[in-house]
Amino acid sequence: MNSNLKYPKALENSNSLVAKYLTKELFEELKDRVTINGFTLQNVINSGVQNIDSGIGAYAGDKESYEVFAPLFDKIIEDYHGFKKDDKHKTNMNPNDLNAPNLDIDSQFIISTRVRVARNIKDIPLGTAISKELRDKIEQDISQTLLSFDGELQGKYYPLNNITLDDRESLIKDHFLFKEGDRFLQSAGLNRDWPNARGIFHNSDKTFLLWINEEDQLRIISMQQGGDIKEVFTRLVLAIKKLQEKIKFEYDKHLGYITSCPTNLGTAIRASVHIKLPNLSTKMDEFKEIADKYSVQIRGIHGEHSDSEGGVYDISNKRRLGVSEVECVQDMYNGVQALIKREKELRNKNY
Ligand code: ADP
Ligand code: ARG
Repeated sequence: MNSNLKYPKALENSNSLVAKYLTKELFEELKDRVTINGFTLQNVINSGVQNIDSGIGAYAGDKESYEVFAPLFDKIIEDYHGFKKDDKHKTNMNPNDLNAPNLDIDSQFIISTRVRVARNIKDIPLGTAISKELRDKIEQDISQTLLSFDGELQGKYYPLNNITLDDRESLIKDHFLFKEGDRFLQSAGLNRDWPNARGIFHNSDKTFLLWINEEDQLRIISMQQGGDIKEVFTRLVLAIKKLQEKIKFEYDKHLGYITSCPTNLGTAIRASVHIKLPNLSTKMDEFKEIADKYSVQIRGIHGEHSDSEGGVYDISNKRRLGVSEVECVQDMYNGVQALIKREKELRNKNY
C-alpha cells in the first residue's frame, strides 16, 4: 500500500478547504484507503496539492469516494454548502414554484441568463477515474440519445476533435463551450486523453446545450439573452426530464446527484446571470457583503477563475445541496434583485 506516503508540504501554504480540514492526523487515518475503482487519497487531493490557490482542492473518483473519504469530504461539504451529516437533501423542479418575474425588462443590467446541472452516469467511475473505453462509450451513448430530441431541444452533436481550432475558440469566447487546459481539472485527472470523447451538443439557437465528458460526464445547459430566468429554468427542466427517460444518473439519498467536485453535489445546479454593475464594482467590499448575505457567488465574465470585463460579472447561487433546484434558482434571483437595487441607488447618487 501507500504507507510511505507523506503529508504534502504544499498544503501548509494553501488556504483551500483540503488544507483546512486534512490535518496530519486525518491524513494518517485516510492515506491507505482506496475505493473499489482504485481511487486513493492522493488522487482525491492532488488538485489541491498541485494548485495551492484552490478554494476547495478535492475531487471524488466515484460515488464510493464520498463514503471511503467521508471524514474529509463531510467537512468540506458542511463548510461549502452548510449541509451536515444528518441533513436531508430535497428536490423540486417545478418552475411554477419560482417567484421570478423578469427583474430587468428594459435590459439595463442583465445581459444573459444560464442555468446548468451536472450529471454522471449510474454505476460508472466519475471522469477523474474513468477508463478511455468507458469515456468513449458515454460519448457514443449520449450523442445517440440526443438524436431523438425534437422541437426546441433538437440539435447536433459536435465532437471536440472535429471542430476547428477557430470554431472552438469562438464557441469558448461566446460562453457556449468549456475552456481547455484548466489546471485544476488537469491535476484531478479530468483532462486525460483530451480532446477525445469530449464534445458539445446544441440546438440551432444555442439555447439548449450539453457538454460531454468535461468536469462531469454531462453538463446540461439552458441559456439565452436577457433576464427571463423562469423561461431558462423551464427549458432546462424539460431537457433533464427527457434525458431521464433514457439514462440513469448517479444519485444518493443523502448527497443528491453525485459529481466529481463536492461543490456540485445535491442539485448540481448553477443558475447565473451576466450582469453589468459598473457602480457597485467600484465598491467591492459592499458588493461582496451583499453577495454573502444572499448566498450568491461572484465570478468573472469567462467563467470560474476568470476576471470581470467592463463591470460585467457572473452572479450565481452558491449552495446546491440540502436545498431544492427551485430554491437554488431563487437564491440567485434574490441576490440579483438586491444587487440591482443597490446599483440603481449608487447610479442615482452619482448623477
Ligand atoms: P460552469 O459550467 O460550472 O457554470 P463556468 O463558470 O466555467 O462553469 O462557466 C462556463 C461558461 O458559461 C463560461 O464561458 C461562462 O462565461 C458561461 N456563462 C456562465 N453564466 C453565463 C450567463 N449567465 N450568460 C452567458 N454565459 C454564461
Ligand atoms: N478545484 C477548484 C478549486 O478548488 C474548483 C472548485 C469548484 N469549482 C468547480 N468547477 N468544481 O478551486
